[in-house]
Amino acid sequence: MSNLYRGDFNSKIDYVFKIVLIGDSAVGKSQLLARYARNEFSLDSKATIGVEFQTRTLEIDHKTVKAQIWDTAGQERAVTSAYYRGAMGAMLVYDITKRQSFDHVVRWLDELRSHADKNIVIMLIGNKSDLGSLRAVPVEDAKEFAQRENLFFMETSALEATNVEPAFLNILTEIYRVVSKKALVANEEAESGGNSSLLKGTKIVVPGQEPLPAERKSSCCGYS
Ligand code: GTP
Ligand code: MG
Repeated sequence: MSNLYRGDFNSKIDYVFKIVLIGDSAVGKSQLLARYARNEFSLDSKATIGVEFQTRTLEIDHKTVKAQIWDTAGQERAVTSAYYRGAMGAMLVYDITKRQSFDHVVRWLDELRSHADKNIVIMLIGNKSDLGSLRAVPVEDAKEFAQRENLFFMETSALEATNVEPAFLNILTEIYRVVSKKALVANEEAESGGNSSLLKGTKIVVPGQEPLPAERKSSCCGYS
């Protein structure tokens, strides 16, 4: 934990990475977020209404990165495209004890592919790994699926705080890799005269936009 700047709003923010949480209702999206952002967990967590986000600031490769993690109701099938706008990562969560929540992952992927940026980093999360005796989705099935679809994959338990930290760190590091690689290529282009059409007009955009006021139901942590 020593390399984390939790709530240190005096430090300069180098990057803001927006990540969206998606997946069926009751798979544990909000509790994963509560665990990661506040190290909290609640057993009688209420279904999310509307859209909310929380942030956590951490260091990756000596850069200060603010993770802005958005959460909405799994039931809200009409998630607006504003939810996905500017998202650089998506955590697609299912419940390892609910086969249906895993079967629906393909639908969520379709939704992502029609609304989100095509370079979005996607991580499949099998949550509630503490409930092993009720398991309905074999790890192998999920691994195979993730491999086929080119997704990162991890099983987590928000309740026991297992793999929550690594999962978020993983996706954030991957986003960082994508962003810094883009920046590097852009630099090399500039230095070599930049006459390739490949990157012409390509701007490195670090989305740090706030949600639209109408959508901001309850955001914590304030903005620096
Ligand atoms: P929506 O907001 O309706 O989309 O649901 P959600 O995906 O946000 O689910 P939420 O985080 O509210 O969790 C649903 C239920 O699962 C709650 O009762 C949580 O306490 C429970 N839960 C969440 N994560 C875990 C976990 O890792 N293990 C166990 N055993 N229960 C969990
Ligand atoms: Mg929720």
